[in-house]
Amino acid sequence: MVIEENKLVDIERGLVSRKNFADPEIYKQELEQVFARSWLFLGHESQIPNPGDFFNTYMGEDPILVTRGKDGKVNAMLNSCRHRGNSVERSDLGNRNNFMCTYHGWTYDLEGKLITVPGFKELYHEELDLENWGLVAVTQLESFHGLIFANWDPEAPGLLEYMGEYAWFLETRVNPQGQGSEVVGGIFRWVMDCNWKFAAENFVGDGYHGFISHRSAMLVGAQRGANGVQQQSVNRWKTQEDPNNFRFGTKYGSGGGFHLLPDEAPAITASSDDPNAKAINAYYQQRFEVMEKNLGRTRARLGGWNAMFPNFSINTSADQIHVWNPRGPQSTENWVYILVDKAAPPEVKKARINASKRVFGPTGLLEEDDGDNWKLSTDGCKGVIAQRYPLHYGMGLDDKPMEANGDLPRRRQGSLGDTNQLNMARMWSELMSGKSWQEIKDSSEPV
Ligand code: FES
Ligand code: FE
Repeated sequence: MVIEENKLVDIERGLVSRKNFADPEIYKQELEQVFARSWLFLGHESQIPNPGDFFNTYMGEDPILVTRGKDGKVNAMLNSCRHRGNSVERSDLGNRNNFMCTYHGWTYDLEGKLITVPGFKELYHEELDLENWGLVAVTQLESFHGLIFANWDPEAPGLLEYMGEYAWFLETRVNPQGQGSEVVGGIFRWVMDCNWKFAAENFVGDGYHGFISHRSAMLVGAQRGANGVQQQSVNRWKTQEDPNNFRFGTKYGSGGGFHLLPDEAPAITASSDDPNAKAINAYYQQRFEVMEKNLGRTRARLGGWNAMFPNFSINTSADQIHVWNPRGPQSTENWVYILVDKAAPPEVKKARINASKRVFGPTGLLEEDDGDNWKLSTDGCKGVIAQRYPLHYGMGLDDKPMEANGDLPRRRQGSLGDTNQLNMARMWSELMSGKSWQEIKDSSEPV
């Protein structure tokens, strides 16, 4: 099935078909056309510091084994034995010299090369070509300040080109002080009854929902101490004209909506009743100064929401990484990691872990608000009558983009609007139409 471009996403009129969020055939196609051709997040290098370290993860529905080889290089391959498909490593993470499949014992080295086959001489008469039956390696593998991404499509642009202006933002989260970052405290993983795109588009541009969806969570202090941060519940509708608020979407579907921390209080502060408030405040003040020196005035002050196409985000309120793994048209396996500045003192890292549990993840107050909405939105896209009526993506489509200037990227005034969500849907639709990467590179224009 080839999806006709512009049928499911109407950019001119700002309409998106409900079928995109519920149709099993569309879901099957997006695994093929979107997930098998886009850059996907695998994990962080800090999860595998030593040779022989490994962790398991996913690209779409494919299980992926990521290892650190004896040479120190990162490898990524399908965690599926070439004999009968069994998983060659069942643990989530650990350290190994090699991976022995527990079914018949075929054994692979840290790079995925097939090194031992039981009965190689007696049963295969030494004729099995070991070179050709190693684990299937990902086609492109790159790191961005420790974040590991992979892509199955050899034609896809390199990671930096694919990210575009998103890299301008992402560096502020993963390398705030020039010393890199690390993930701590394990990974939250759970299944939500929603289509993955509702989550992704919410993070790429939906600042509109916060003041409504999260109002009660804010009132009970959900974000107290996130980052060791005391955050205010802000009515962003009233800040649309403020030049310190803007949004941008990239050529390949990523983007974010941002507001700059004010000059009078640019550094984050801990809530006053935090026993480590003094140390936390000192850290954030010093971090702000280093960031301003290294990354410039604007990037040192960035706060907001964002996502990298198709299913990755780092929120700025708690620096948690979200990955929305597709598990069916109405099912998403959410993975959430807590990211910390490597240079942060232990009390800041501890505060971050504690605060993160309260904000996003299965116990997070904001996450619960969001998940509930996305489930019901997905339910609302299933019915035959409902599918006759497209969804409205028209907010702010007439806002004219401003060209890049100073240390700001091409953007629109105001952090609110549907342009980023529609831009993500546009990229999805271009891939779904079966266009080659070359065609997309040649013709793709952000909304
Ligand atoms: Fe792995 Fe047979 S399935 S050795
Ligand atoms: Fe939310």
